[in-house]
Amino acid sequence: MLDNILKRSSVRRYEDKEISQEMIDLLLNAGFSAPCSKDSRPLHFIVLEDKVIMTHLGENLKYASMLRFANKAIMVCADKDISPDCWMLDACAATENILIAATELGIGSVWTAVYPYEDRQEVVQNFVPTPENIKVLSIIPLGYPAKEPMIKDKFDANRIHYDSF
Ligand SMILES: Cc1cc2nc3c(=O)[nH]c(=O)nc-3n(C[C@H](O)[C@H](O)[C@H](O)COP(=O)(O)O)c2cc1C
Repeated sequence: MLDNILKRSSVRRYEDKEISQEMIDLLLNAGFSAPCSKDSRPLHFIVLEDKVIMTHLGENLKYASMLRFANKAIMVCADKDISPDCWMLDACAATENILIAATELGIGSVWTAVYPYEDRQEVVQNFVPTPENIKVLSIIPLGYPAKEPMIKDKFDANRIHYDSF
Protein backbone atom coordinates (compact mmCIF):
# COMPACT_ATOMS: atom_id res chain seq x y z
CA MET A 1 0.00 0.00 0.00
CA LEU A 2 2.75 2.45 0.95
CA ASP A 3 4.43 1.70 -2.37
CA ASN A 4 1.24 2.63 -4.23
CA ILE A 5 0.91 5.88 -2.29
CA LEU A 6 4.51 6.79 -3.14
CA LYS A 7 4.27 5.89 -6.82
CA ARG A 8 0.78 7.30 -7.57
CA SER A 9 0.82 10.02 -10.19
CA SER A 10 -1.76 11.61 -12.47
CA VAL A 11 -2.24 9.72 -15.74
CA ARG A 12 -3.89 11.64 -18.56
CA ARG A 13 -3.18 9.46 -21.62
CA TYR A 14 -4.67 6.02 -21.98
CA GLU A 15 -4.58 2.87 -24.06
CA ASP A 16 -7.77 1.89 -25.87
CA LYS A 17 -8.42 -1.04 -23.55
CA GLU A 18 -11.50 -2.08 -21.58
CA ILE A 19 -11.53 -1.78 -17.79
CA SER A 20 -13.52 -4.71 -16.42
CA GLN A 21 -16.47 -4.42 -14.06
CA GLU A 22 -14.42 -6.35 -11.50
CA MET A 23 -11.83 -3.54 -11.51
CA ILE A 24 -14.53 -0.86 -11.25
CA ASP A 25 -16.07 -2.69 -8.28
CA LEU A 26 -12.67 -2.79 -6.54
CA LEU A 27 -12.21 0.95 -7.11
CA LEU A 28 -15.70 1.71 -5.79
CA ASN A 29 -15.08 -0.43 -2.74
CA ALA A 30 -11.87 1.54 -2.13
CA GLY A 31 -13.89 4.76 -2.42
CA PHE A 32 -16.56 3.61 0.01
CA SER A 33 -13.85 2.49 2.46
CA ALA A 34 -12.48 6.01 2.93
CA PRO A 35 -12.87 7.69 6.31
CA CYS A 36 -15.87 9.99 6.58
CA SER A 37 -17.04 12.49 9.14
CA LYS A 38 -19.10 10.94 11.96
CA ASP A 39 -19.30 7.74 9.89
CA SER A 40 -22.16 9.50 8.09
CA ARG A 41 -21.50 7.68 4.77
CA PRO A 42 -22.72 10.41 2.41
CA LEU A 43 -21.00 9.06 -0.73
CA HIS A 44 -22.51 8.26 -4.08
CA PHE A 45 -20.56 7.28 -7.19
CA ILE A 46 -21.67 7.65 -10.79
CA VAL A 47 -19.72 5.36 -13.12
CA LEU A 48 -19.43 6.88 -16.59
CA GLU A 49 -19.28 4.35 -19.44
CA ASP A 50 -21.19 6.15 -22.18
CA LYS A 51 -18.72 7.56 -24.70
CA VAL A 52 -21.15 10.29 -25.77
CA ILE A 53 -21.47 11.62 -22.22
CA MET A 54 -17.71 11.32 -21.60
CA THR A 55 -16.91 13.13 -24.84
CA HIS A 56 -19.37 15.94 -24.06
CA LEU A 57 -17.88 16.34 -20.60
CA GLY A 58 -14.32 16.21 -21.94
CA GLU A 59 -15.10 18.91 -24.49
CA ASN A 60 -16.85 21.21 -22.06
CA LEU A 61 -15.30 20.69 -18.65
CA LYS A 62 -12.18 22.75 -17.94
CA TYR A 63 -9.01 20.71 -17.43
CA ALA A 64 -10.82 17.42 -18.03
CA SER A 65 -10.29 16.93 -21.76
CA MET A 66 -8.71 13.50 -21.09
CA LEU A 67 -12.24 12.23 -20.42
CA ARG A 68 -12.60 11.97 -24.22
CA PHE A 69 -10.05 9.16 -24.27
CA ALA A 70 -10.68 7.46 -20.93
CA ASN A 71 -12.28 4.03 -20.98
CA LYS A 72 -14.47 4.82 -17.98
CA ALA A 73 -14.70 7.44 -15.26
CA ILE A 74 -15.99 7.69 -11.72
CA MET A 75 -17.85 10.77 -10.53
CA VAL A 76 -17.38 11.14 -6.80
CA CYS A 77 -20.49 12.64 -5.20
CA ALA A 78 -21.80 13.16 -1.70
CA ASP A 79 -25.14 13.95 -0.11
CA LYS A 80 -24.79 17.35 1.53
CA ASP A 81 -27.92 16.75 3.60
CA ILE A 82 -26.24 13.75 5.24
CA SER A 83 -22.87 15.46 5.82
CA PRO A 84 -23.55 19.23 5.65
CA ASP A 85 -20.20 20.44 7.03
CA CYS A 86 -17.88 17.77 5.69
CA TRP A 87 -19.34 16.30 2.51
CA MET A 88 -16.51 17.75 0.41
CA LEU A 89 -13.84 16.41 2.76
CA ASP A 90 -15.52 12.98 2.77
CA ALA A 91 -15.56 13.02 -1.04
CA CYS A 92 -11.88 14.11 -1.14
CA ALA A 93 -10.90 11.13 1.01
CA ALA A 94 -12.86 8.80 -1.29
CA THR A 95 -11.27 10.35 -4.38
CA GLU A 96 -7.76 9.79 -3.03
CA ASN A 97 -8.58 6.19 -2.04
CA ILE A 98 -9.73 5.50 -5.60
CA LEU A 99 -6.54 7.01 -7.07
CA ILE A 100 -4.37 4.84 -4.83
CA ALA A 101 -6.41 1.70 -5.56
CA ALA A 102 -6.15 2.43 -9.29
CA THR A 103 -2.37 2.61 -8.95
CA GLU A 104 -2.37 -0.84 -7.32
CA LEU A 105 -4.48 -2.22 -10.18
CA GLY A 106 -2.24 -0.70 -12.88
CA ILE A 107 -5.04 1.65 -13.97
CA GLY A 108 -4.19 5.26 -14.79
CA SER A 109 -6.30 7.93 -13.11
CA VAL A 110 -6.38 11.63 -12.39
CA TRP A 111 -8.41 13.82 -10.04
CA THR A 112 -10.32 16.36 -12.09
CA ALA A 113 -12.03 19.01 -10.03
CA VAL A 114 -15.72 19.86 -10.27
CA TYR A 115 -16.27 21.39 -6.83
CA PRO A 116 -15.71 24.21 -5.84
CA TYR A 117 -15.92 25.73 -9.33
CA GLU A 118 -19.41 27.04 -10.16
CA ASP A 119 -18.86 26.89 -13.93
CA ARG A 120 -17.70 23.26 -13.82
CA GLN A 121 -20.59 22.24 -11.56
CA GLU A 122 -22.96 23.79 -14.09
CA VAL A 123 -21.37 21.86 -16.99
CA VAL A 124 -21.70 18.60 -15.06
CA GLN A 125 -25.32 19.35 -14.19
CA ASN A 126 -26.06 19.85 -17.89
CA PHE A 127 -24.74 16.43 -18.91
CA VAL A 128 -25.19 14.29 -15.78
CA PRO A 129 -27.82 15.95 -13.61
CA THR A 130 -27.98 15.03 -9.93
CA PRO A 131 -30.61 15.93 -7.31
CA GLU A 132 -30.06 19.23 -5.49
CA ASN A 133 -28.64 17.53 -2.38
CA ILE A 134 -26.12 15.41 -4.30
CA LYS A 135 -22.93 17.40 -4.85
CA VAL A 136 -20.26 16.34 -7.33
CA LEU A 137 -16.73 16.83 -6.02
CA SER A 138 -14.57 15.26 -8.69
CA ILE A 139 -14.50 13.15 -11.81
CA ILE A 140 -11.79 10.51 -12.11
CA PRO A 141 -11.06 9.48 -15.71
CA LEU A 142 -9.74 5.89 -15.85
CA GLY A 143 -7.71 4.05 -18.44
CA TYR A 144 -4.70 1.80 -18.77
CA PRO A 145 -1.70 4.15 -19.05
CA ALA A 146 -0.41 4.81 -22.57
CA LYS A 147 3.09 5.06 -21.12
CA GLU A 148 4.78 4.15 -17.86
CA PRO A 149 3.63 6.72 -15.25
CA MET A 150 6.42 8.93 -13.92
CA ILE A 151 7.27 8.52 -10.25
CA LYS A 152 7.91 11.84 -8.50
CA ASP A 153 9.76 12.13 -5.23
CA LYS A 154 7.86 14.87 -3.40
CA PHE A 155 9.37 14.36 0.04
CA ASP A 156 10.56 17.75 1.31
CA ALA A 157 12.46 17.78 4.59
CA ASN A 158 12.32 21.61 4.67
CA ARG A 159 8.55 21.49 5.12
CA ILE A 160 8.50 19.14 8.07
CA HIS A 161 8.17 20.73 11.50
CA TYR A 162 8.25 19.24 14.96
CA ASP A 163 6.48 20.93 17.88
CA SER A 164 6.61 24.42 16.25
CA PHE A 165 6.61 25.89 12.74
C1 LIG B 1 -8.12 19.22 -5.66
C2 LIG B 1 -7.45 18.80 -6.95
C3 LIG B 1 -7.97 19.21 -8.15
C4 LIG B 1 -7.37 18.79 -9.35
N1 LIG B 1 -7.95 19.15 -10.52
C5 LIG B 1 -7.41 18.72 -11.68
C6 LIG B 1 -8.06 18.98 -12.91
O1 LIG B 1 -9.14 19.58 -12.96
N2 LIG B 1 -7.49 18.53 -14.05
C7 LIG B 1 -6.30 17.82 -14.03
O2 LIG B 1 -5.81 17.44 -15.11
N3 LIG B 1 -5.66 17.54 -12.87
C8 LIG B 1 -6.20 17.97 -11.70
N4 LIG B 1 -5.62 17.61 -10.51
C9 LIG B 1 -4.39 16.80 -10.50
C10 LIG B 1 -3.18 17.68 -10.20
O3 LIG B 1 -2.90 18.51 -11.30
C11 LIG B 1 -1.99 16.75 -9.88
O4 LIG B 1 -2.31 15.95 -8.76
C12 LIG B 1 -0.73 17.56 -9.58
O5 LIG B 1 -0.29 18.23 -10.75
C13 LIG B 1 0.40 16.69 -9.05
O6 LIG B 1 0.71 15.67 -9.98
P1 LIG B 1 0.60 14.13 -9.60
O7 LIG B 1 -0.86 13.82 -9.35
O8 LIG B 1 1.12 13.41 -10.81
O9 LIG B 1 1.42 13.89 -8.39
C14 LIG B 1 -6.20 17.99 -9.31
C15 LIG B 1 -5.70 17.57 -8.08
C16 LIG B 1 -6.33 17.94 -6.92
C17 LIG B 1 -5.81 17.42 -5.59
